[in-house]
Amino acid sequence: MEVVIAPAEELARLAADTIEERLRARPESVLGLATGSSPLKVYDELARRHAEEGLSFARARAFMLDEYVGLAADHPERYRNVIEKEIASRVDFAPDAVRGPDGLADDLVAACADYEAAIADAGGVDVQILGIGTDGHIAFNEPGSSLASRTRIKTLTAQTREDNARFFGDDLDQVPQHCLTQGLATIMSAKHLVLLATGKGKAEAVHQLVEGPISAMWPGTIMQMHPHATVLVDDAAASRLQLADYYRQTYRSKPDWQGL
Ligand code: F6R
Repeated sequence: MEVVIAPAEELARLAADTIEERLRARPESVLGLATGSSPLKVYDELARRHAEEGLSFARARAFMLDEYVGLAADHPERYRNVIEKEIASRVDFAPDAVRGPDGLADDLVAACADYEAAIADAGGVDVQILGIGTDGHIAFNEPGSSLASRTRIKTLTAQTREDNARFFGDDLDQVPQHCLTQGLATIMSAKHLVLLATGKGKAEAVHQLVEGPISAMWPGTIMQMHPHATVLVDDAAASRLQLADYYRQTYRSKPDWQGL
């Protein structure tokens, strides 16, 4: 696991570099997209590179991590709509190239199985962008999630619903109770995991993710088992890392030619 501690703008550029390198090497690459505030600067940078530098997504596909259950198709906080606004509509993905789990399906269990099959049919995710919850979730794999889980229905914790109330006019009652989420094993199948975390509120979750024992209580810790995982954090999110000096030194002394 590589840990990079840098200002948020630099982290966004590094994540965008990783996606750009992958797309230029193989334009049909499959991207994994997260919602929430953590990847927004990455999406801004990708949109800029598309507009100004010709970075194309025309042959790529993308899979979202998760979706709320039951939000109306036109609800602005439905993750499919959020992804459309933050990245899909700003670049040149082909129609239907971006998919998310269907939180409005009559049969949610079947929708989860379909979603797993669609990711597998696409050949799996090449680069997966991730954020982390203050309770240590990745996607919406809340504490206690099976480390072998696949896409399924989950109940959001009170902590996650409080954290996300800011997107619902601070009205907790508007935050859905349930979601569909890629499982931890689904995420672990991606070839490269790139997690972004900024701000002091993420410091404990980042410390556990990188340095804690692997445990379902801190679901992100499963990333320690991934052969290619990159954790991009700012100073505040890194403030509880025991080996922060070592991570800084490693990044400073990294050869220019070596990407993430
Ligand atoms: C969203 C997702 C979540 C968020 C996490 C952090 O698709 O999968 O795991 O990444 O809740 O959210 P922010 O980035 O808003 O702090």
